[in-house]
Amino acid sequence: MVNAITFNQTHIAQEELEKQFGEKVQHIHKQMIEGTSVGAEFLGWKQLPNEIDQEELNQVLATAEKLRKSADVVVVIGVGGSYLGAKAVQDALSPYFGKHEDNPEVIFAGQNLSGTYMKQLLQHIDGKEVAVIVISKSGTTTEPAIAFRILLEYMENRYGAAMKDRVVAITDKSKGALRELANRSGFTTFVVPDDVGGRFSVLTPVGLLPIAVAGIDILQLLEGAKDAVKEYTSSELSTNSAYQYAALRNHLLNEGYNIEILASFTPNFATFHEWWKQLFGESEGKDGKGIYPASVAYPTDLHSLGQYVQDGRREIFETFVQFKETTANCAIPTTEDNLDGLNYLSDKTMNEINDVTLQATMQAHQDGGVPLIHLTVGKKDAYHIGYIIYFFEMACAMSAYLLGVNPFDQPGVEEYKKNIFRMLEKPGFVEEK
Ligand code: PA5
Repeated sequence: MVNAITFNQTHIAQEELEKQFGEKVQHIHKQMIEGTSVGAEFLGWKQLPNEIDQEELNQVLATAEKLRKSADVVVVIGVGGSYLGAKAVQDALSPYFGKHEDNPEVIFAGQNLSGTYMKQLLQHIDGKEVAVIVISKSGTTTEPAIAFRILLEYMENRYGAAMKDRVVAITDKSKGALRELANRSGFTTFVVPDDVGGRFSVLTPVGLLPIAVAGIDILQLLEGAKDAVKEYTSSELSTNSAYQYAALRNHLLNEGYNIEILASFTPNFATFHEWWKQLFGESEGKDGKGIYPASVAYPTDLHSLGQYVQDGRREIFETFVQFKETTANCAIPTTEDNLDGLNYLSDKTMNEINDVTLQATMQAHQDGGVPLIHLTVGKKDAYHIGYIIYFFEMACAMSAYLLGVNPFDQPGVEEYKKNIFRMLEKPGFVEEK
């Protein structure tokens, strides 16, 4: 299936967008194909869905199966691009309440430094069969490294030498402390490819293994991404909606709209917003440039941030993601006394009312001076999630290049790290005091 996403906007005529950006887009597209764009050594994500090694994929599936069989709870350790993609996909495709009886519980660690969180995690897993997946491309990031040290000690105490069959490490093929530790301990390992940065790594074992452990069909996820590769190959702005989205974002920025809010009416899509924020925020926010990526979960946030969006400073544009088909639905019952006055809705379902609320919100925000983008996605399933991941990755790379920054580095992330190393007196950093 192609064209699983429909892109709509009413802010600028298509011809005008093409006039402003058509040539630049073609030029950048060519550079990306030829590998001459800035940061081109990190363009590996572009062909991932097609070029994923079948043997590696089989190993991911087999390892996932092994962990699913041996563990009641799988702790996934990672931060940033090493956890957000997996969590986004899992949250979007898992039931709201409870879990499927065949699936282990998948929980995350290493994305915060709260001692309370870790203590309670250890209490939560105690008495259950546990497995750990530790993910760090660099293999040296402090937050996941601390979480792993604590969990490794727990696993050693609990399982002794057999612990090595319950720990999987995903990291660089040869560098970093985690690679060394994993090799010495004999853990099963997977590699984060050199040419794929953290926030673009969800379709590598970084995302695929934890997602498969959660019982989600990663082959369908890859199938969706593969179809998106086909859909977004054109260098023509007129036929490539990922590039249209990228161009429109830059046009809006030039008009003074420097905040983009990703909005959806689907509660379990909220973690995907977080993945999207990292993707765009870390790729574009540099050299004093960028569009600040924010998000809202409507209708919940209509009762908080909705006021600001409708009526606050006019520097916001909003991108709505709407799923056409829904997974389940709920009818509104009729009551005889109609005491709550809701009988006028009793021939409707909750999802119909949700869709009307989305339309009403879009109309209100447009009337309030908020430029809108509307992305309609076929269905919230593994195929479409894979497709939309690739759509956003493609759009993000093009958008960052149009902005004039390297989409694939993150020099700003290093600043706080130097400070903590100095403040915590890490050897080699003390003298910088
Ligand atoms: O996108 C990125 O590169 C970052 O967000 C990283 O994913 C994040 O800093 C975690 O890094 P690492 O996987 O090296 O532990």
